[in-house]
Amino acid sequence: MEAFHRPEQENSDAQPNSCHISRTLGGYRTHSGQDCSSRQRFGTPLFYHEQAVWGRPEEPLPRRRASHWKPSLLPVAFDRRIWVEDHYSKAMTDSPTARHRAAFPSEAASILRARSLQTDYSHLSQSLKPGQRVLDVGCGTGAVTAGIAKMVSPGEVIGIDTNVGLIAEALQSHRFPNLTFQCANIYELEHLKELHIGFDVVVAARVLQWLAHPADALEQMISVLKPGGTLFILDYNHIKARLSPTPPTTMLHFRERYLAWRKDAGMDNEIADHLVELMQKKGLADVNSTEHHELTRRGETDFDRRIGLWADVASTRGHQVVADAYLSEQERQTAVDDFRDWMHNDAAEQYFYLLSVMGTKGP
Ligand SMILES: C[S@@+](CC[C@H](N)C(=O)[O-])C[C@H]1O[C@@H](n2cnc3c(N)ncnc32)[C@H](O)[C@@H]1O
Repeated sequence: MEAFHRPEQENSDAQPNSCHISRTLGGYRTHSGQDCSSRQRFGTPLFYHEQAVWGRPEEPLPRRRASHWKPSLLPVAFDRRIWVEDHYSKAMTDSPTARHRAAFPSEAASILRARSLQTDYSHLSQSLKPGQRVLDVGCGTGAVTAGIAKMVSPGEVIGIDTNVGLIAEALQSHRFPNLTFQCANIYELEHLKELHIGFDVVVAARVLQWLAHPADALEQMISVLKPGGTLFILDYNHIKARLSPTPPTTMLHFRERYLAWRKDAGMDNEIADHLVELMQKKGLADVNSTEHHELTRRGETDFDRRIGLWADVASTRGHQVVADAYLSEQERQTAVDDFRDWMHNDAAEQYFYLLSVMGTKGP
């Protein structure tokens, strides 16, 4: 198999794209599926909730949170109320550049939608048990979260993400009595801690790769685990990804620029191989790592979906890379066209290096 090239050049900073929010029946949504963490751009941040609290509409809201209700925004349907919450005011550990680059492009939601617990996080599925309470951080469209909710039912599951559009889609698409979605930030899980419930399992799949301060995020996730609870992190080492035969040089160039764009924002392109150390440093016990690589070969049922990933990345995230002046629009478009041609005619194999690392919180 041929290796992708390593990125060499480091480059400049970026300005966030502007983003608009519009009011809809009972709540707000973004026009572009943007990140909900920027107070300046959105005014008041959002908090979506499927049911009153933990899927039990008959229970009163916790006192502190009740004080944040904004009655004018309450929707008609009481069991799907959406309210405005102000929990983005404190910890925003990442720089504006990192937050801007981590913002998930709405056009790429189909990548997340096509995932499932069994095919895309099998290691976790083998460890879940009915009755467990689970937090899925950076849940995206909720496709994997829905699988978790089915496995642990009647245990309660909550999925959080900073992207308003993805959370709105998750709420629409996955309606189970034990499943809740919220718009919230991995760096600020205080509101979950204040509920004093504690999670048996906290999960972050393919999320830490997008953070400039993953150790701080781990600390937050550990803080909401019960004593004896387990943290599961699934993530990539992008440098170890392989395609065979060698993809077009235009796509190799795109990939170099893309990885430099991430690295310059403080993101770790090799985070999978640093997770064990990070988790041990945060005091977790029995930290162990399981290979979770994704190998796709021509002829396999999933080949067409999986081999197209780099074209999808260049067609979606690629626009952010161009906007930040890491490559030209023509270079991006040529990479997409050449790669699509290559994947239809030549592509034989794609390998992504992922590790699933788990650790237990002490008493
Ligand atoms: C690559 S997607 C992974 C989605 C899902 N976990 C999966 O495996 O399919 C990364 C997700 O992390 C979310 N994300 C990025 N930064 C975040 C943050 N600071 N807090 C919470 N979610 C974040 C993004 O919006 C996006 O949905």
